[in-house]
Amino acid sequence: MTRPRTALITGITGQDGSHLAEFLLSKGYRVAGMVRRASVDQSERIAHLLDHIELVQGDLLDPSSLSKALSDVEPDEVYNLGAMSFVPTSWAQPVLTGEFTALGVTRILEAVRVVNPKIRFYQASSSEMFGKVRETPQTESTPFHPRSPYGVAKAYAHWITVNYRESYGLHASCGILFNHEGPRRGLEFVSRKISNGVARIKMGLDKELRLGNLDAQRDWGYAGDYVRAMWLMLQLDEPVDLVIATGKTHTVRDFCRIAFEHVGLRYEDYVTLDPKFLRPAEVDTLLGDASLAKATIGWEPEVSFPDLVRMMVDADLLRVSRLKAMGH
Ligand code: NAP
Ligand code: GDD
Repeated sequence: MTRPRTALITGITGQDGSHLAEFLLSKGYRVAGMVRRASVDQSERIAHLLDHIELVQGDLLDPSSLSKALSDVEPDEVYNLGAMSFVPTSWAQPVLTGEFTALGVTRILEAVRVVNPKIRFYQASSSEMFGKVRETPQTESTPFHPRSPYGVAKAYAHWITVNYRESYGLHASCGILFNHEGPRRGLEFVSRKISNGVARIKMGLDKELRLGNLDAQRDWGYAGDYVRAMWLMLQLDEPVDLVIATGKTHTVRDFCRIAFEHVGLRYEDYVTLDPKFLRPAEVDTLLGDASLAKATIGWEPEVSFPDLVRMMVDADLLRVSRLKAMGH
């Protein structure tokens, strides 16, 4: 019997990890995920997959755990999604952010190089690297000017991946992904904070939604579309770095307007500015050009911005109403 193609995902408990695991299972992969030990269960996003995937313990801070995970799982493909991914926390914990999000990538690339350099490697690069943007729209050749310790760490991670490709001939690719969201997004990110806030206000649980910069603009897509691009990149004969984006940008205010309108409310009546949510340095506008991804891997987003907002609000309405019914 032929061995199924095998993938190891770091960050499988995160938003993208759960979507990617589902996608790879649908392609017939054997899927393993690396998880950190925690005192409480972290598997909410992958609970429905636990009978179909394998979990191995490991941490991007611990090199021997990475080598052991690779030796035990014997993957054909590694998707490095694990990171401290919340931008504001990167100012509060800049050193730890660098350890996870920057040096963690060197640790796992080293493990790949030593254990099996034939493994295909995907690095979760970020549009945050463009930061104070040097040109619009941003492409694979736009210079980086990161604006947060997180963005700086991702720039290091990006270049160390390129360097391992050029130094050791690894099949290592970076997806420069613009913001992507969905009902599994963490509650502190602005999209989910808004959809959850709208649901709670509609259900009478909250009276206001406190936000920071409503004028920030992001190129927002749907996470389910973006994990497909990760996989497509690793199927190419040659490794590649690609921008993955929708090519449209919207303000946080636009997100609020569509979300509140979806439940028959006006955002102006509920959203208040809280300076606590302003950042020491802001990324004002992001807009990606994914033409190269379309040409090389045939990737295009399928979910539009208004549909994404409405999908998230609907999911939170259902979740909040269930919680309310259970008395939580
Ligand atoms: P997420 O929901 O915050 O998930 C992050 C994952 O990383 C979690 O599974 C977390 O595990 C894991 N992790 C954190 N520290 C770790 C460590 N030291 N060792 C091993 N795993 C660790 O993030 P996401 O939205 O799915 O994003 C996935 C990746 O894409 C991240 O690298 C992110 O920076 C990058 N990215 C995201 C976007 C976006 O818009 N979503 C855009 C560009 C790039 P625990 O459950 O144990 O905390
Ligand atoms: N989180 C948050 N909370 N953001 C707010 C708020 C608020 O109350 N009010 C306004 N914003 C603005 C932020 O200032 C930022 O300009 C924008 O909303 C988006 O913030 P986030 O949703 O936290 O995402 P991000 O753009 O900082 O980072 C995300 O996208 C990156 C790709 O560009 C994360 O997923 C990163 O991990 C990812 O790399």
